[in-house]
Amino acid sequence: MPDTTPTGLTRLAFGGDYNPEQWPESVWHEDVRLMREAGVTMVSVGIFSWALLEPTPGTYEFGWLDRLLDLLHEHGIRVDLGTPTVAPPAWFYRAHPDALPVTADGTRYEFGSRGAICHSNAGYRAAAAAITTALAERYGAHPALALWHVHNEYGVPVSACYCDSCAAHFRRWLAGTYGTVDELNEAWGTAFWGQRYTDFGQINPPRATPTVGNPAQALDYKRFADATLRENFRMERDILHRLSPGIPVTTNFMTALSQCDSIDYWAWGREVDLVTNDHYLITDGRRTHVNLAMAADLTRSVAGGAPWLLLEHSTSGVNWQPRNPAKAPGQMARNSLAHVARGSDGAMFFQWRQSRRGAEKFHSAMLPHGGTDTRVWREVVELGASLDSLSPIRGTRTQADVAVLWDWHSWWAQNLQWRPSEDHDPRERADAFYEALYDRHLTVDFAHPEADLSRYPLVVVPALYLMTEAAGNNLEEYVENGGTLVVSYFSGIVDEHDAVHEGPYPGALRDVLGLTVEEFSPLLKGERVRITGPDGSELSGDVWTEFVVPRGAETVWTYADGLTAGHPAITRHRHGEGSAWYVSTRLDVHGLDALLGWAADDAGIAPRADLPRDVEVVCRAGESGAFLFAINHSALDAKVPLEAHGTELLTGEGAAGHLGVPAGAVRVVRLDD
Ligand code: GLA
Ligand code: ZN
Repeated sequence: MPDTTPTGLTRLAFGGDYNPEQWPESVWHEDVRLMREAGVTMVSVGIFSWALLEPTPGTYEFGWLDRLLDLLHEHGIRVDLGTPTVAPPAWFYRAHPDALPVTADGTRYEFGSRGAICHSNAGYRAAAAAITTALAERYGAHPALALWHVHNEYGVPVSACYCDSCAAHFRRWLAGTYGTVDELNEAWGTAFWGQRYTDFGQINPPRATPTVGNPAQALDYKRFADATLRENFRMERDILHRLSPGIPVTTNFMTALSQCDSIDYWAWGREVDLVTNDHYLITDGRRTHVNLAMAADLTRSVAGGAPWLLLEHSTSGVNWQPRNPAKAPGQMARNSLAHVARGSDGAMFFQWRQSRRGAEKFHSAMLPHGGTDTRVWREVVELGASLDSLSPIRGTRTQADVAVLWDWHSWWAQNLQWRPSEDHDPRERADAFYEALYDRHLTVDFAHPEADLSRYPLVVVPALYLMTEAAGNNLEEYVENGGTLVVSYFSGIVDEHDAVHEGPYPGALRDVLGLTVEEFSPLLKGERVRITGPDGSELSGDVWTEFVVPRGAETVWTYADGLTAGHPAITRHRHGEGSAWYVSTRLDVHGLDALLGWAADDAGIAPRADLPRDVEVVCRAGESGAFLFAINHSALDAKVPLEAHGTELLTGEGAAGHLGVPAGAVRVVRLDD
């Protein structure tokens, strides 16, 4: 069995992508010296090195990598070794021009960037297997080797190819999935617009069409493309497991939906030995630490709650957003330790030394262009020391309070065309509910809709348009057994083929919610409706309203104006031992907070009103003890109540009663038993 943590790493992982091939070897010695100064424990190497390792087909030049791994080993730095299969060399494309991917409108990409790969291409698969085999044979037992890093960020920059090999591969996948073309016709609803097929050979990828294509076909293509990437990951992983036994294999995920939305990470989480993630702040004016927390919680959930590893983030600004602000002093440490609080056994960066050439020279790094007499470098050194003193938390697990349901297949379906309103953005709802839970200082696990939810007092469904019957039954059982459920509008509408569940909406959730929805009535741009509560108080909604008919549920809030005036806006259904809330409009922050407050009461979750806004408190616990992380993202000094005595690990001071957390600071208390 391979390890599930980097082999031989006895501290938290701290380091970054290390691309020394961009520098003369004399610089490597300075690199390792500075790595030691900063407390680096592991680096990721070789991710884009195919062209250097195999300069001509079948001839390998391993000398430089031998020297590099030996040097790192001499200095006690563990190695996360990449298979370079995301960057095939120029010679490869000369021999296999058909391995360049094709877009839905027929454009074939060119060589000259990275990740230009048709994953169905037999030539690519053979070449990727060969370089992986050669690397595994050479380095599989190297003493520096801690982890195999397969490929890079499957799903970006190309998530699906539409070429002829992919078409043939898609047909094979469809035949395997449906067995007969009649089954496929039924599932895809091809009776509509005369799309019936009489042979699998007639089916193509969802290439450009004059108007909207078949939605079930588009959804299946997402599944096919994801499954194809996973086939190639498995191919490499199995070679590595065979030739490098015991060493864990990972590939770096990008769980945050805004950075990669084409991968079903629930499925991928089961394939890797260790879940690793890349995360970059999206600086669009919103609270970036909330978005970060959400990505970290999602990554931990994909890892089944086990420790995972942040393999890339940035020390300061990135270079691929429209505007790339630097991080504020202290922000890098807060970011890093927020990932650690939420289950990462370390914090790694892209990249170690800032490049002078190439596309990413303006992306920050651990060692900036400005060298060691810089704020970034000083903060890097400080972070290395902090992580060193947090070593005892390795292997412990983050404790969650509530669950939010999440399903990539549902995202894919919701983003298909021709829906009741383009203003309904499911991602916006997920963010909004998450933010409201964050502001209540509740730690969130994400869960698949068919997962066992029995350990959570409260489960939130922000927007899950696609929901299988099995998921609906799962939620019903959860509530019957005493759970509290909160469901937002336009959930439980279609099955796995994007077909509307039989009977009134919401087919998968009617029984548990105790209601039906007769009609959707989305609002015009900027239009708002008022809703009134039992005591006459008022909330407001926009984007969406519905004609809800209670069938067992009680009406708690009612539309006061608009087309749905007089109809229920928020309902509650006592069902079995539990209760299920439904909200049929888009509530603003204030409304969401109120709704979650009532649901939290039902769930018996006590408010944590004694914690100030933007002070993040998260606990990790395990064999080595219980640890409370307090991260102050605000500009005000804060006090966090402590239920037990303990020792603050970053300052070494005793902590009891109230823990002082200065503005912008992080504190981690190891609680006494
Ligand atoms: C991704 C890639 C890295 C680098 C960073 C820059 O995460 O994996 O190679 O391009 O983005 O932010
Ligand atoms: Zn292709």
